[in-house]
Amino acid sequence: MDRAEAEALFAGAQVVHVASTTEEGEPVLRVVHGVVVRGAIAFHGAPAGEKTEAVGRPAVVACEEIVASIPSYFVDPARACPATTLYRSAQAHGVIARVDDPDHKAEVLEALMRKYQPEGGYTPIEAAHPLYRKAIEGILVLSVPLERLDGKAKLMQHRAPEERARLLVKLWERGAPGDAAAIEVIRRASPDTPAPAFLEAPAGCALACALGPGDVEAAVDLLEGAYWNQGVPRVVIARALLGATAWVGARDAAGRLVATARAISDGARRAWLFDVMVAPALRGVRLGEALVRMLLDHPAVRGATHVHLGTQDAHGFYARFGFRDRAALPPRPFTSTEMVLVRG
Ligand SMILES: CC(C)(COP(=O)(O)OP(=O)(O)OC[C@H]1O[C@@H](n2cnc3c(N)ncnc32)[C@H](O)[C@@H]1OP(=O)(O)O)[C@@H](O)C(=O)NCCC(=O)NCCS
Repeated sequence: MDRAEAEALFAGAQVVHVASTTEEGEPVLRVVHGVVVRGAIAFHGAPAGEKTEAVGRPAVVACEEIVASIPSYFVDPARACPATTLYRSAQAHGVIARVDDPDHKAEVLEALMRKYQPEGGYTPIEAAHPLYRKAIEGILVLSVPLERLDGKAKLMQHRAPEERARLLVKLWERGAPGDAAAIEVIRRASPDTPAPAFLEAPAGCALACALGPGDVEAAVDLLEGAYWNQGVPRVVIARALLGATAWVGARDAAGRLVATARAISDGARRAWLFDVMVAPALRGVRLGEALVRMLLDHPAVRGATHVHLGTQDAHGFYARFGFRDRAALPPRPFTSTEMVLVRG
């Protein structure tokens, strides 16, 4: 894992572990809310207590992200030995320093607020602000430089590409929460992994079985002009994407997002597909078909007995997957009316 990736892991970690020693040489381990500011991991504490004593001591700061747990039977039907966990982790060794400059302290505290309260709702922290001046003086801010920084990713990078591809299939079949995202993390770490059948896409395109916050802007660009999104603000389209149970897409050879589709689903009875869109330049090469096929096979969607969607003019496209006009279904043994509450 390169330095930028290890730093990004620290920046995104919900908590950071800090291991050090007391004056008596006893080991101590703390879990802190940490932010990366001026090339160091910074955190705060009360001006008295264990954290104060830590100033000037060597420390290790660490964070990790579990990507997927791999049961032994994915690899071997009998032996327990292959059971493992895929993860990304970062560690930095350094000496704990106290941050005394009020502007630097304010920068750390403001970064903590932005990380843990991104919705705002407070006056931004500045050293000279009358709301904060006293509090900044009183609070202890510590930092450990990220100079001696190591990152480790255990994502099957050292296995044969075919073995990795087999693991992707196992993860897709298992479909536990996080497995679709894990598939994309593993592929990003080893771009030479062959695409298994469920990810097969037309030449020049690659399907992605899980999109995330970094794809929101590009996906909203694709969806903004669609007839069903007329008058829907970009921020609402974005929230709908991030709130979906399954959100998939496709990228071109340059890595640009060129297709997107999402579903909400209870995984058992009902799923709904929404926002199916292929970039105009790539329509007609069977990308839409590959995308919808993958979405219908997505772990969150594949178990639903009824999959719904609405379309103005793509009935023929969806018919190839088995979708039918609802009116053509046999009548239910009871009568009901679809009701809706429209807000806003
Ligand atoms: C509809 C859409 C997703 C289809 O994607 P695509 O990549 O262009 O379609 P594909 O190349 O995979 O088409 C597969 C087949 O479906 C057919 N097809 C594509 N769009 C169709 C449509 N709107 N109506 C009927 N058939 C359609 C193709 O002709 C092709 O048929 P073939 O196998 O006989 O050659 C894409 O055109 C799109 O994004 N349109 C604008 C947004 C939209 O309307 N989304 C759906 C909203 S419900």
